[in-house]
Amino acid sequence: MDLFSRRSMWVNGPVIIGAGPSGLAVGACLKEEGVPFVILERAECIASLWQKRTYNRLKLHLPKKFCQLPLLPFPAHYPEYPSKSEFIEYLEKYAAHFEINPKFNECVQTAKYDETLGLWRVRSSASTGEGGSKVEVEYICRWLVVATGENAERVVPEFEGLSEFKGEVLHACDYKSGENYNGKRVLVVGCGNSGMELSLDLCNHNAIPSMVVRSSVHVLPREVMGKSTFEMITLLMKWLPLWLVDKLMVIIAWLVLGRIEEYGLKRPKMGPIQLKSTEGKTPVLDIGALAKIKSGDIKVVPGINKFSCGGVELVDGQNLEIDAVLLATGYRSNVPSWLQESEFFSKNGFPRAPFPNGWKGKAGLYAVGFTRRGLAGASSDAVRIAGDIGNVWKEETKKIKQKSAACHRRCISQQF
Ligand SMILES: Cc1cc2nc3c(=O)[nH]c(=O)nc-3n(C[C@H](O)[C@H](O)[C@H](O)COP(=O)(O)OP(=O)(O)OC[C@H]3O[C@@H](n4cnc5c(N)ncnc54)[C@H](O)[C@@H]3O)c2cc1C
Ligand SMILES: NC(=O)c1ccc[n+]([C@@H]2O[C@H](COP(=O)([O-])OP(=O)(O)OC[C@H]3O[C@@H](n4cnc5c(N)ncnc54)[C@H](OP(=O)(O)O)[C@@H]3O)[C@@H](O)[C@H]2O)c1
Repeated sequence: MDLFSRRSMWVNGPVIIGAGPSGLAVGACLKEEGVPFVILERAECIASLWQKRTYNRLKLHLPKKFCQLPLLPFPAHYPEYPSKSEFIEYLEKYAAHFEINPKFNECVQTAKYDETLGLWRVRSSASTGEGGSKVEVEYICRWLVVATGENAERVVPEFEGLSEFKGEVLHACDYKSGENYNGKRVLVVGCGNSGMELSLDLCNHNAIPSMVVRSSVHVLPREVMGKSTFEMITLLMKWLPLWLVDKLMVIIAWLVLGRIEEYGLKRPKMGPIQLKSTEGKTPVLDIGALAKIKSGDIKVVPGINKFSCGGVELVDGQNLEIDAVLLATGYRSNVPSWLQESEFFSKNGFPRAPFPNGWKGKAGLYAVGFTRRGLAGASSDAVRIAGDIGNVWKEETKKIKQKSAACHRRCISQQF
């Protein structure tokens, strides 16, 4: 039986890869410009990260005004920090409002610029759902917009002995809630926003979490005197140099949260904003985990040496008996696995040029949502990209119209 069939398709306008917030934002802005497009999405729904790979208690951790996509604000009745389900509802309405209909179940395998044609060739493998058969489709287009996200794939580090461990091992992207962990001793590996919040959720469900902190972490309060810390940073950055804002943030964190070093959380030498922009390491915005660390409900432990069938040995020689392991070890971009290009994107799957210059490559290549600035960064990329493509589109449509009008006039004059 032939499980594969192939077809080719010309796309009049850009192909956007990924129907997360970034891909939808570009789609909406292109609609405004009158440019047609096709969105390819590997999952069977929009915003698959939010719908399928996040835990139940998740809320946006920045105020809503920094998270709404271009051209359509959040409903006024939404809270300052919308929940995961509110955010998904907003995105569904966003897609419906702009009549964005992605092609689902289409996973892009390769994308390559064909120098001879001066066009992009995008190959995707689409499952038809009938007996596991696959259709390979080649899209040929002039513009390619990469919107596959900074968090496309889970990071699963290798640990000695983990395969012998008898308990459950789960990545944070498969964790939904702590309700199944009542009374269990859980090792949470990683202390980013995921590790902190999973540990907090486990506490709230009467589990016993130990959180692995192998290096250092910046913890900032989500708000200071009712004002969002992120908003404060954005405001200060307009007037002050980055190093000074970094210093101020560390002082504010110390005043509000106290000396976190006392609880086993070392602060990095580099300031939180510089660390984010140079190494992509996100500071933790505390929403309650720190209080649980201070009370001892979340135990902070150092790095891992090796696992055994019922426990873990830590780098300081401590042995812990554990029932489950949650890997809150982060995510990575998957661009290098399918995009055959190395000038604009670097090996880590992010554009080489830092914000605000990493949105446009050569030969019609664009990137949206790789600014390490969350949803606000994605929105700003989307507006730029659609404007850029829209200008060329309008210019060329005008020329075509003029040409056909001239031809029409010639035809009319020839009739007389
Ligand atoms: C737990 C968690 C919480 C977060 N909270 C916030 C927050 O509060 N505020 C904030 O600003 N940011 C937050 N982020 C960052 C988050 O990445 C952005 O909010 C947002 O999801 C980025 O949108 P995106 O469209 O760029 O990427 P994604 O949402 O990851 O969407 C990319 C899409 O591309 C698809 N895709 C990937 N590869 C392929 C392929 N080869 N072919 C076809 N389709 C493909 C994926 O299936 C996915 O649907 C959070 C991230 C995580 C993991
Ligand atoms: N809205 C929200 O509230 C929310 C919630 C969750 C996540 N997010 C966002 O989602 C993105 C991903 O966050 P994340 O927390 O999942 O990932 P992350 O920020 O990349 O953190 C990964 C953590 O895993 C640790 N780690 C990796 N490999 C390890 C190993 N071998 N041994 C021990 N520890 C290891 C890292 O330690 P090192 O630092 O030492 O490498 C780090 O602490 C971020 O942008 C974040 O802001 C947002």
